[in-house]
Amino acid sequence: MSKLQLDDIQGVIPNGYGRLGFANFVLLTVNDADLARQWLKTLPIRNAESKPAANETCVNIAFSYSGLVELGLPESLLIGFASEFREGMAGTGHRARILGDYGPNAAENWQWGGEHNPAVHILLLLYAGDDKLLARLKDDHLAVTGSSGLTILKQLDTNRLPEHKEHFGFRDGIAQPAITGSDSVSGSDSQHDGNIVAAGEFLLGYKNAYGQYTDRPLLPNGDPRLDPDNLLPTALDGSARRDLGLNGSYLVFRQLRQNVSEFWRYIASHSQDADEQVDLHGCVKLAAKMVGRWPSGAPLTKSPDIDNAALSNDNDFVYHRSGDANGFRCPVGAHIRRTNPRDSLEPQPGSDRSIEVGKRHRILRRGRTYGPPLSLSLKPEDLINTEPDNEERGLQFLCFNTHIGRQFEFIQHTWINNPKFDGLYEDDDPIAGSRGHHNVPGGTFTVQAELVRTRVTNMPIFVELKGGEYFFMPGIRAMRFISSLT
Ligand code: HEM
Repeated sequence: MSKLQLDDIQGVIPNGYGRLGFANFVLLTVNDADLARQWLKTLPIRNAESKPAANETCVNIAFSYSGLVELGLPESLLIGFASEFREGMAGTGHRARILGDYGPNAAENWQWGGEHNPAVHILLLLYAGDDKLLARLKDDHLAVTGSSGLTILKQLDTNRLPEHKEHFGFRDGIAQPAITGSDSVSGSDSQHDGNIVAAGEFLLGYKNAYGQYTDRPLLPNGDPRLDPDNLLPTALDGSARRDLGLNGSYLVFRQLRQNVSEFWRYIASHSQDADEQVDLHGCVKLAAKMVGRWPSGAPLTKSPDIDNAALSNDNDFVYHRSGDANGFRCPVGAHIRRTNPRDSLEPQPGSDRSIEVGKRHRILRRGRTYGPPLSLSLKPEDLINTEPDNEERGLQFLCFNTHIGRQFEFIQHTWINNPKFDGLYEDDDPIAGSRGHHNVPGGTFTVQAELVRTRVTNMPIFVELKGGEYFFMPGIRAMRFISSLT
């Protein structure tokens, strides 16, 4: 097993920069490749050797496929990238169907990305411990973009909500895979720990969950002209080829607007007591059933009836083996059970084999919330009672994976938007589902129960896509190679 080359991996991939509460994601277009490459050389890209302290700043960078073309990467390397990345998130009608990007989510409605907007070539990720440091970081690197052959298309602001919550009022960012070869898992037995996943699932150039090396751009054999200064690292697969992919990852970026009032009003209208009064506990319970965790983060499968803050960071659970095969505690269609079914997968639910299959479909989430909360307290009763406003708020959803089709797109298509997920019939993901299209049902949520199951129907869309693109975040030596192209 190869140890991770932390000095060559961009820090946000394994570290996430949890301590840096301020972040800005800057979308750029390249107008002059020569100048832009000079600008790239000035960036102090943070590696993953250490976690930043709260008073530090971090800069990371990623490129879209059209960005790599614009910066002059030769075709012999471009063809080594995954087809999903080459086509782009809004590239084909087929992709829109896979991702559920139709109706309100269709690319023609996006604020950035897609064919209707200027091409996004570069994504610059800026992180800081406070707003002043972030402002200074922006000044340092963005003031010169005009004279560096770049246009700033958007600066996407983010924020940190209290208790690490997202806008619906639930604690987020709890369940993350641990990466083989990283310090946090050294000494553990990855075969038997359901949460330890092969490094090659998140970093190109390492072995993936099949024990293979995922396809990536390698320098054609025997053509030293492409890398005369030997900037690129050597592949770890023993081939002795230079590896442009090594220590890089694909970054999926989707700006997801959350309709918070619609969400809680829908829940409230389906949680009334006999006198048609809103039953607050019933409300919170229905919403928690949809997420699979309570607002504090406590997993329903461990605490089915009441929230329990003592379990707010708990990620040590499965479904079948712990007696929740039928979804009586955590419903089968809940958001967290769909996006990581743990031991619920065929061919043998409840077995180690089931968990191993799940390890082929994990992602590393690195998203941040944006926009003002509907109510500062984020308490369900306040979110229900606050008048709707016109503010845009949501999640800048970012995740890393090495096989977009088998990881992010699979989760989105086969789990989130699949009305027949795990024996269901017409339910899609109650939180992130894009609802029905072309007579495919959706908008139903089933709560399994011992005697009689209950269902809510005609659920509107709670999360809308406002922009997105697939990016490649290279290793640091690969980034230097890209900035040295002529
Ligand atoms: C605005 C949209 C979304 C919201 C509000 C949301 C919210 C949440 C919350 C509250 C959790 C539980 C906390 C945690 O375990 O970290 C969670 C978990 C998760 N979400 Fe989402 N999510 C959204 C979109 C998505 C999308 C689009 C995907 C993937 C395509 C996704 C994948 C996951 C995964 C993999 C987990 C962890 C499941 C587990 O391992 O138990 N989420 N999400």
